[in-house]
Amino acid sequence: MNKKPVIVVGRKLPESIEARLTRDYEPRFNADDKLYSTDELLALCEGADAVLPCHSEHFTADVIAKLPDSIKAIANFSVGVDHVDLEAAKARGIIVTNTPNVLNDATAEIAMLLMLGAARRAHEGEQIMRQGTWTSWSPAFMVGTQVTGKRFGVIGMGRVGQVAADRARGFGMEIHYYNRNRLTPDLEKSAIYHKTVEDLLPHCDVLSLHCPATPETVKLLNAKRIQLLPDGAIVVNTARGAIIDEDALASALKTGKVAAAGLDVYAEEPTAQSIFKDIPNTFLMPHIGSATHDTRDAMGFRALDNLDAVFAGKEPRDRVA
Ligand code: DGY
Repeated sequence: MNKKPVIVVGRKLPESIEARLTRDYEPRFNADDKLYSTDELLALCEGADAVLPCHSEHFTADVIAKLPDSIKAIANFSVGVDHVDLEAAKARGIIVTNTPNVLNDATAEIAMLLMLGAARRAHEGEQIMRQGTWTSWSPAFMVGTQVTGKRFGVIGMGRVGQVAADRARGFGMEIHYYNRNRLTPDLEKSAIYHKTVEDLLPHCDVLSLHCPATPETVKLLNAKRIQLLPDGAIVVNTARGAIIDEDALASALKTGKVAAAGLDVYAEEPTAQSIFKDIPNTFLMPHIGSATHDTRDAMGFRALDNLDAVFAGKEPRDRVA
């Protein structure tokens, strides 16, 4: 009988995924779900055939250079691959895969939660109720922004952006978007296309970011571009923190140029000291866009399908390098 491939598993995964890993592979599980240091990760990779990491394990060029020759694949349990230096992996002949599509609904749900939470001051309301400080009501109390019928702007009209736009249509919002390529009419569904980010921004009562973090998109939403938003716009980010200049957004939130922001992702993660934590007109979540039972299972099965293809000598469906 052939020896089963040895797989280093970056984090604790759902039961059904660990069961399939145990059936088909020789997994090196992370039972305590600890965040491995680079040295620990590299030590675990000795003699292994592949790694199944999350976005929390960083495969920089330096880490990839130190991986043993036995590693054939990095099969990510994530759609984002900004934690992996794809060029370095390619140079070493290491296959890299991700888990596209299966996160669309969960992430779009969180985008809606963030939009509504930011617009309707959910964080302040929660605090008042939990601290027991609610003592009066008046028409001027906790007045927020209504999103129904307003304009929903998307940067990055890929799979998640399209589902978020569909959900926003449920609020009667008019969809505007910027994408590197214009969508075909069946996918565009009458959304209004803008050729540049600069053209899009003045049309965004709500701006929702859905593009990947790449060298081209780092700090894409900077101070200059924030000024192009309508006064009192709402900013939502479920993509990656790196695409916002956080200092510039914090300043705009303090002046009220941006009425509120709903954020799930941050330039540095995890962080107990986000620069947004003391800014009241924010609604903040700790990177849970894809954190539903359904989606976690789907991500795991997709990552395993990719691994299976690699070890069957086939082209994995979601190869990114
Ligand atoms: C992803 O899949 O990229 C999500 O951000 C969770 O890692």
